[in-house]
Order: sequence, then C-alpha cells, then structure tokens
Amino acid sequence: MDKVNFTSMENGTAEEYSFLDTLEDQYKADLPKRLISALRDLNSSLSGYQVSRLEHSLQGATRAYHAKEDLEIIMAILFHDIGDELAPYSHSEMAASVLRPFVSEKVYWIIKHHGVFQMYYYAHYTGGHKDAREVFADSPWYEDAIQFCHKYDQNCFDPEYESKPLDFFVPMVNKFFARPRMDDSEELARYGNR
Ligand SMILES: [Fe+2]
Ligand SMILES: [Fe+2]
Repeated sequence: MDKVNFTSMENGTAEEYSFLDTLEDQYKADLPKRLISALRDLNSSLSGYQVSRLEHSLQGATRAYHAKEDLEIIMAILFHDIGDELAPYSHSEMAASVLRPFVSEKVYWIIKHHGVFQMYYYAHYTGGHKDAREVFADSPWYEDAIQFCHKYDQNCFDPEYESKPLDFFVPMVNKFFARPRMDDSEELARYGNR
C-alpha cells in the first residue's frame, strides 16, 4: 500500500490506519529537524529590537546553559518564542503546545504564561497592566515564571552578549525531542493526531 483507499475517515480500515501510523512515526522522527528549521526562521521575524528573535532565543538558552539549568529549561527557552511567526496573538500558548509532550507540567505552565509575565517589564508603557501576572499569584509556579522571565527572557536582547551558535544546541534538540516524555499512550491519546 502506498496510499489509503478511504475518502472519509469513517470508512478507513484497521490495516489502513496501521499503515498511516507507520508513516506518522517516521514523520514524528523528523520533528527535531523541523523545530530547528522553525528556529532559523526566527532570524527574520519581529524587527526593531537590537537582536533577532533567533539571537534572543539563543541568548536565553546560553545563559541557562551556563547557569547549569536542566535540559528541559534550556530547550524551553530555546523554543519559547517559536510561536511568534504563526501565532502573534497567542505565541506563548503555541510554544507551550509544541513543548507539552516533552516537558514537565511546570515548564509547560511557565511557557504557556510567559507572555503575561513578560508584561511586567513593559505593559505600563503601552496602555496595559504590568501586574497582569498577579492573576496567577496562587499558582505553585508563579515564582518560577517570574524567575524564568527575569533571568532568561527580558534580559536577552543584548547584541554584545556572546551566545552559543544554534549548531551548539542541535545535538541537545535531537536528543530531547527524540521521543515524548509522556510516552504512556494514555496521556498522549488525549490529544489525538488526526
Ligand atoms: Fe515570548
Ligand atoms: Fe522572549
């Protein structure tokens, strides 16, 4: 079989879905490659800052690497703005969704809300509320999100900082995104894939 016969999913057979699963597994195996490519595209996203979004991301990841943070934190920072291109109104949620199967609940939560926590540094200049993050004050990860933004996000727009190049992180990306940590199928099944 090189293609299924059905034109409506309701008419697919077990054999066809098994065939599609095999192809999908191969496609998933290339995820690290696609993530790296999406990261490269951040080189030409939002303008006006002193550094590109790619450099911003590398800078945060490099700071986290030097601070000996866990790999999941380094990876989360590297990809925290991956949503800028396609989700300019909800970039935090998009990045969090990409990371979700690979990181802890805590890191997922931090990335999902990092946009609101970043507002602390600028929203009072743009008609918003710098303290918008207060709605999350009861979260067990509230302080972690504050620290994340303070150490690895708001301060990573420095053209003088010597970031590691993207190639330095590629082996980490390949290893980290090789397979989801939620590999028990029950958890993954909640999300569906078709
Ligand atoms: Fe962001
Ligand atoms: Fe950022």
